[in-house]
Amino acid sequence: MVRDFYDDVVIELLRDGVLDTGMRVLVVCGGRTDRLVMERCGFRDVVISNLGVRPAGRDLGSFGWSEQDSERLGFDDESFDFVVVHSGLHHCYFVYRFTEREIVKTVHSYAPYARHDIRFFYRMRIPWGHLRLRRNRGLYLAVRLARPVLKLVEVCAPRQSNNFAALILKPDLSRTLHPWLRRTDGAVEVNSDWLATRYRTITAPRPSRQRS
Ligand SMILES: C[S@@+](CC[C@H](N)C(=O)[O-])C[C@H]1O[C@@H](n2cnc3c(N)ncnc32)[C@H](O)[C@@H]1O
Repeated sequence: MVRDFYDDVVIELLRDGVLDTGMRVLVVCGGRTDRLVMERCGFRDVVISNLGVRPAGRDLGSFGWSEQDSERLGFDDESFDFVVVHSGLHHCYFVYRFTEREIVKTVHSYAPYARHDIRFFYRMRIPWGHLRLRRNRGLYLAVRLARPVLKLVEVCAPRQSNNFAALILKPDLSRTLHPWLRRTDGAVEVNSDWLATRYRTITAPRPSRQRS
């Protein structure tokens, strides 16, 4: 099978040390493609999840299976080192338009107390399989002709590519908590010391006397 953008991103993250093949990985909205990529990249401890029934054994190889709705995962926190989703999130209700901004907004809304480390990868990914299947060969030939231009767009203006991947790292709260907040016994609360160094305390004005 041809190495794809999916493989390339996972391989780059392995090379950068973000991922490790010994990690326990959960794949949501998963299927055969995910199994093949995870196997090719050397992962051993993977659980593939999706709605509905378990795919036939050979489609999961040695990986585990779990029936899961990606919007209501039933696992305890910290059950996995890494979660992967490929070509699946556009099925979810939370997505209005699938853009980088939507991802940033969703992550910040979920955990507004920290600075998040979100990294994007871009690729002009041409769906050759779909194009070849069309009865009308016109579009396939047009895209083949336009290929050098599309490549140029990918190199010169990567954000204009038709595909992106996002890496969202869970924030390390000892480094990324906003300075006006602090953690006490695991709970996030306002850091009144930080506020006191920057703002004066305002005492509430006394209510003025009303003339009768
Ligand atoms: C386009 S397929 C992608 C499958 C696979 N990840 C791949 O790359 O080939 C989208 C998958 O998402 C699954 N899916 C859709 N909504 C889901 C949900 N809420 N929770 C879990 N899986 C979902 C579908 O069953 C389908 O298998």
